[in-house]
Order: sequence, then C-alpha cells, then structure tokens
Amino acid sequence: MASRYHEVYQAWKRDPEAFWADAAREIDWFTPWDKVFDPDDGVYGRWFSGASCNTCFNAVDRHVDGGRKDQPALVYDSPITGRKQSFTYAGLKAEIVALAAVLQDLGVGKGDRVVIYMPMVPEAVFAMLACARIGAVHSVVFGGFAARELAARIDDAAPKAVISASCGLEPGRVVSYKPLLDEAIRLAAAKPESCLILQRPEQDCELVAGRDHDYAALVDAARAAGRQVPCVPVLATDPLYILYTSGTTGRPKGVVRDNGGHMVRLKWSMFNEFGIKPGETFWAASDVGWVVGHSYIVYAPLLHGCTTILFEGKPVGTPDAGVFWRVIAEHGVAALFTAPTAFRAIRTADPEAELLEPHDLSRFRTLFLAGERADPDTVKWAERTLGVPVIDHWWQTETGAPISQDPVGLGMLPVKYGSPGVPMPGYDVRVLDDAGHPVEAGRLGNVVVKLPLPPGALPTLWNDDGRFREAYLSEFPGYYKTADAGMLDEDGYLFIMARTDDIINVAGHRLSTGGMEEVVAEHPAVAECAVIGIADALKGQVPCGFVVLHGKANVDIATVEKELVAMVRDRIGPVAAFKRVVPVARLPKTRSGKILRATMQKIADHQEWTMPATIDDPAILDEISEALEKHSR
Ligand code: COA
Ligand code: AMP
Repeated sequence: MASRYHEVYQAWKRDPEAFWADAAREIDWFTPWDKVFDPDDGVYGRWFSGASCNTCFNAVDRHVDGGRKDQPALVYDSPITGRKQSFTYAGLKAEIVALAAVLQDLGVGKGDRVVIYMPMVPEAVFAMLACARIGAVHSVVFGGFAARELAARIDDAAPKAVISASCGLEPGRVVSYKPLLDEAIRLAAAKPESCLILQRPEQDCELVAGRDHDYAALVDAARAAGRQVPCVPVLATDPLYILYTSGTTGRPKGVVRDNGGHMVRLKWSMFNEFGIKPGETFWAASDVGWVVGHSYIVYAPLLHGCTTILFEGKPVGTPDAGVFWRVIAEHGVAALFTAPTAFRAIRTADPEAELLEPHDLSRFRTLFLAGERADPDTVKWAERTLGVPVIDHWWQTETGAPISQDPVGLGMLPVKYGSPGVPMPGYDVRVLDDAGHPVEAGRLGNVVVKLPLPPGALPTLWNDDGRFREAYLSEFPGYYKTADAGMLDEDGYLFIMARTDDIINVAGHRLSTGGMEEVVAEHPAVAECAVIGIADALKGQVPCGFVVLHGKANVDIATVEKELVAMVRDRIGPVAAFKRVVPVARLPKTRSGKILRATMQKIADHQEWTMPATIDDPAILDEISEALEKHSR
C-alpha cells in the first residue's frame, strides 16, 4: 500500500488549523472552541482556546457509555510480585471516581496540584485520572529519584496533596518510598497538606498523624458510600499535568501539558502513527514517571479505547529475558513501545532469542523504539527476531508525542536505518547552523521546529514563561530549539545524533550532567569536576565524573570515589547510574576557562578528535587519556 504520509503532511502544511480542527472531532467537548489557534494567547499561541472538556471523560467515561464498559482498559502485570489484575473500563471508572471523591474530601479542587510518587501499580494510573476528573493538575515523579529531587519538584509545583506508596520493588531490593517522601517534605518549603499512602504488602510504613492517610481505607469508604464525582469541565488550555524533566542546571523544568490539544494530538497518533485500532492492546514498557508512560501507558491508549498494559518488571531478570514475549503473547499485544536499551539487554541475555520459542506472538504487529537513538544493529536484531517492522521515532518530554516517525497507520515509508523517520504533521523541522542559517540537506546542525508548536506540545514551563522563552525560543527566533543536533537528508528523513546541551540519555532516562556536577562539587575533597556521558554498550550512555582533588587534600582516592557515587545516588537517585569517577590532576579548558567537555567525551569514547583552537594547555588532553586508561585497567 502506498503511504498517505506525503498527502497528509501537505494537507497539514496547507492549513494547520483545518487539519487540527478535523482531528479534534474525535474528542468529545463540553463546549466548542472560540479559535482553533489563538496566536495572541500564551507565549507563542494556544490551541482550542475557549473550549471546555475533560480528559478523564474522554479517556474513560465515554467508553463506558459507548459500549466498552466490559472491555479490559488496564491490565496490570507484575512479574516482580507475581500479581496480575485486569480492570474493565467500568471497573477503572469506579476506582477513579472513588479516589476523586477522596481527593475532594482532602480539599483538592480544580487547578490544585497533586504530586504522585508511585511505583508501577494500578493506583498510579487511577491517581492521574482522578486528578484529571476533578480538574486538578498532577505531577508524577519517577520513583528512581531521591528525596532532594522530589523536594525540588514539590517546591516548584506546591502541591495540595501527595499520593505515594510504602515501597517500590526493584529486582532483589525493596525501595522504601516513604522515608524518601518524608525527607523530601522536610526539605521542601512548600508543605503539602495531606499525603495519601498506598500500603503495599511487601513493606508497609508508618503514617504521620494528621497529614498521612491510608489510601485503601479512604477509597474503600468512598466506594461503600456510593460517592459519585462527575467530570469537572476545564478549559482546553488549562493544565492537565506538569512533568519535570532535566534542564541544563540541577533545577528541573516543569513541562506543562494542557487538556484539549493533548487529547487531540494523542488520539490522532494512535491510528495514524502507531497503526492501532480501538479495542486492540497497546503496551508501552516504560514507567508512568516518564513522558512515554504519561502519553502511551495512560492517556493515548485510553483515549483511543484500547487495552493498555501496566508492567512492573524489567526486560531481563524478572524472571528472565523472555518476559516481554510472555506478556505480548498472554495479553494479545498488538504493538510494544520501549527504549532500545531494553532490547540491548534482552539480546545480551538471550542472543538467539531461545526464550521466544514457547510464545505465540501471532497478534503482535509492530515494535516501536524511542527515548534514545536506536542503533541499526539492535533494530535489525529485533526485526530478525520478531519478524515485524521495528519503528524508531524521535520525541521529547516537551512534545509529548512523536516529532518524527515512520507513520504506520498512514502507510509505511521505505526504511532508512539510523533515522527516526520523517516529521509528523504539526512539525516543520529545520536544521540551522549556529548563526541560525539553514544548512543544506545531509549536513549536521541544530534541529529546530518552526513555531507554533502543534497541539499537545508544551505551551510553557510551570510558572516560568521567562525560562521557557530563554531555554527554547530565544536562540533561534521564530523556532523551538530541540537541543538535539542532527540532519535532514535529501528525502526529508531526520537523523538525530546528539544533544547540544549537557543532557545525557542513560538507559532511555534523561539526566543532566550539570545536576551531577553540582552534587560532586559539594564533596569537600573536590576542587573541580566535570561529568560527561560516555558510550555504554547496554545503556547507550553512562555518566563519568572527572575530579580534581584539592592540592592539600590528604585523602584516599578510593574512599572519595565511593563517597561521590553514594552522594549522587543519595541526592539524585539510583537512576543516575553514576558509578565511574576518574581522578585527574587538571581539567582541559579554553583560554577563557570553559571546560572542554565535548573533547573529553570524544577521547573517552575513542572517537576521532581535533585539538580545539582555543585550548589553554594541550598537554592536559594527554593526561585525560592516561587517566582514563589507568582507570579502566
Ligand atoms: N525506583 C527505584 N529505583 C529504581 C527505579 C525505580 N522506579 N528504576 C530504576 N531504579 C534503580 C535501579 O534499581 C538501578 O539501581 P542499582 O544501581 O542499584 O542497580 C538504577 O536505578 C538504574 O536503573 P536502570 O537504568 O533501570 O538500570 P538497570 O541496570 O536496573 O536495568 C535496563 C537496565 C536496560 C534493564 C533498564 O534500564 C530498562 O529496562 N530500561 C528500559 C528503558 C525504559 O524504560 N526507558 C524509559 C523511557 S522509554
Ligand atoms: P526525553 O525528554 O526523556 O524523552 O528525552 C528526549 C531526548 O532523548 C531527545 O531530545 C533526544 O536527545 C533523545 N531521543 C529520544 N528519542 C530519540 C530517538 N529516536 N533517536 C535519537 N534520540 C532520541
């Protein structure tokens, strides 16, 4: 079948407002919009201004009313606990309504923020949708972040309530969430009035009198009382959630997602980009703490009337590298979305995919990979192993949905390995040099998007229009800066090569090396440091810290190394995977004192590098090579 991509993309380009107004027919609105796009509203304009709607209504209630009440909406599969549970659309609605009543009793109303710090349990999904139902703004914090990171998010969002759990479960380890939450609230200046705590059977926790409440007790009571909570109308432009993501400093950026445009964009993506029909089963093997979890575990599949899988496990070790195949077969998954690192882990553990054999994957049609560059070797292995198309696609927390992809529903285009496809409607992608001039096809440059951004992409940062302008819109006027470097080829395919800032991608998790440097620099023996991302066969990148110790510091370097690793784990979280510290006598710098991180990275990755013209003392680069070699021995 010939792809409709070019025709559809051109239709969007000719008349973006007509295109999105047409897509918006798939959503139930309480009242229509005044303008499809209002260029005078917000920082660069707003979509569907004046319309009122409710995201929970569209994701849940309308399916209950529309013939899907007995269809599984959410299937929880937890190889780590051995538990499985399925919720129909009617069952999901009942859980959400009861929780929404509890939140209202705790004084949470429209516009109030609720921080959700949860492991991968169904209650995390109920919590997000209960907030959406009453017009509260959720902010989910990934469980692998430590107390200080959680505190920074609590301070910025100033939540009225927090929903959390006693513990999370990692292979071979129970992660006690409650002490982390208590410490975060102690550190935060903005204290939440109440915390709703889910006690998990693997480990319960103490509740703080007057502040903490038992999730199950309150929800059961609301259910027993037959409490009903209607979906509260909100403006399309009202925030649905805030999701914090790594910025170039330790202070995370609060990406705002609105209600209306978000629904339109995600609903459109499910068939046109992912090729999924309502009623089918979609599995995003990510975490609700990341944008992929928000968009493709929770909102998009439910808006589309699909069954979504919530998987509490890992691609390997829970119990083995066959667990993905088991889940696909058992739940009839039509498409899986995960990060390339998961497939690298499976391949390393089971190179011949022997664990695939007992499973019937006949309903499985497509594998989607995103979150980091999909290396062609892994893509080809997955294609050979599964016998289905493997689609690399590129997006960011900020965009909430793919910027570029091979659009399966519109008809696939010829595959180019190493490319995450072509720009999706809504995205006029350009590649500019540092001075803002377009570069020719096939040349590397700054990847930018011509404004306005489409529905669903961030309209601003939480309470910080200034930082939004400064971080994304100021360097290339008229464009959104993706902070990715890459190129467009002569056929319009994108290639995304690297970040242009200090963000690194560790096992598909986005982290700031600047944030890690801030922690490392706090160690009393450290005079100076630089943290860079270096290539890793499994995780794509891992952080590596170069430290210069104080001249007079009489310390045991092995002890300092251990302390630094512990500090980053304690302040940022285990997810940072900061395990490598290389002591050096000096750091290479330009004559104006800037640390030459890019050159250090090339040396560490054994890539070709050229001597920077502005370097202060070239001999230091040899010292870096020697230190790395000594350290790896
Ligand atoms: N709560 C607490 N700790 C967590 C956590 C959570 N929710 N998630 C991860 N961690 C911890 C891990 O236990 C690990 O700790 P350790 O240093 O004590 O081993 C550390 O954070 C790093 O975790 P992770 O990056 O997951 O690495 P891993 O070595 O445990 O597993 C993979 C490697 C490849 C199996 C794993 O990264 C993976 O499944 N990746 C899939 C990618 C993904 O989901 N990306 C999301 C965007 S699509
Ligand atoms: P996040 O906000 O966590 O989704 O991370 C976004 C960043 O991950 C992007 O800016 C890219 O640097 C990187 N990224 C995501 N998907 C891809 C992809 N398919 N190819 C290359 N890089 C990607």
